[in-house]
Amino acid sequence: MNIELKDIHFSYGSVKALDGVDLSIGEGACGLLGPNGAGKSTLLRILLGFLRPDRGEGRILGRDILHDQFAIRRLVGYMPEDDCLIPGLDAVAFTAYFGELSGMPRQEAMKRAHDVLFYVGLGEARYRLLETYSAGMKQRIKLAQALVHDPKLLFLDEPTSNLDPQGRSEVLELIKDISSRKDIQVLISSHILSDIEFTCSNVVILNKGRIAAQGEIQALKQVDYSLYEMRIKGEAETFIRALRESGCRVEETEEGLLKVYMPPDLRRDGLFRIAARENIQIRHFVQSRTSLEDLFAKTVGVD
Ligand SMILES: Nc1ncnc2c1ncn2[C@@H]1O[C@H](COP(=O)(O)OP(=O)(O)OP(=O)(O)O)[C@@H](O)[C@H]1O
Ligand SMILES: [Mg+2]
Repeated sequence: MNIELKDIHFSYGSVKALDGVDLSIGEGACGLLGPNGAGKSTLLRILLGFLRPDRGEGRILGRDILHDQFAIRRLVGYMPEDDCLIPGLDAVAFTAYFGELSGMPRQEAMKRAHDVLFYVGLGEARYRLLETYSAGMKQRIKLAQALVHDPKLLFLDEPTSNLDPQGRSEVLELIKDISSRKDIQVLISSHILSDIEFTCSNVVILNKGRIAAQGEIQALKQVDYSLYEMRIKGEAETFIRALRESGCRVEETEEGLLKVYMPPDLRRDGLFRIAARENIQIRHFVQSRTSLEDLFAKTVGVD
């Protein structure tokens, strides 16, 4: 696995942003899909070692996220959600500066800056001051600084935000081109399913700080899940863990309602057997059918 997280929890004061995230990402471009406030940016910052999780552990390309932050930053390029531009600099100086920050010698950083600026389509504008850049150009320069040190992994946080349809599709094409290269793997956060489908083969759906689904997009889309809503009496945490081990996706609402998305190979009896084994009393039980499209729509909101 290239990225692996176990039981990650993180709160900003009293705001719980990540609530027990388990994640495994192998080869191939991966989308991190979730509505506003789902915890996408927090998750990326934890992967980069900018934030320390309250609980849990993880590895990126074999490096420990808690202890090998410097090695990780050399291997990872990061395009933040917010502006990270420095006014008064032109694109070449800015991009080369980020190259130097990640440990490249000045000359090499300068040479690479020119190359990546041409690659992202800013060749002509590379000596212009950054404050004169349009929104689309700003996204491209943010992409250039993330690429300058030739990372193995590229984390893009909402790379299409603030763009008009034309700018959006240009940036998506560029990302697709980057992710088609064998030597770099892309992780893209977005709240738009179609952006992720266009650029990625895999997806992790995050909702309210928890993983709602993860895997290959095509495979996930073919599965018809049965959705059961239930209330239980007993040790919810062990029950939820047992359900997840059997391939279910489980969400717990604030009102204590469990939503269990069950794959077709596990039958309803299976669910009751797990409940009996874990000493769980099922008090309220309602079934409905749902597809992954519905799951996407429900978790992410329709775009
Ligand atoms: N610096 C902070 N201080 C307090 N709460 C924060 C801070 N940053 C994020 N949060 C809260 O943590 C939760 C997760 O936020 P996060 O920014 O990770 O979500 P996101 O999925 O990136 O959302 P968006 O799509 O809006 O960028 C939200 O409830 C948010 O309000
Ligand atoms: Mg965010």
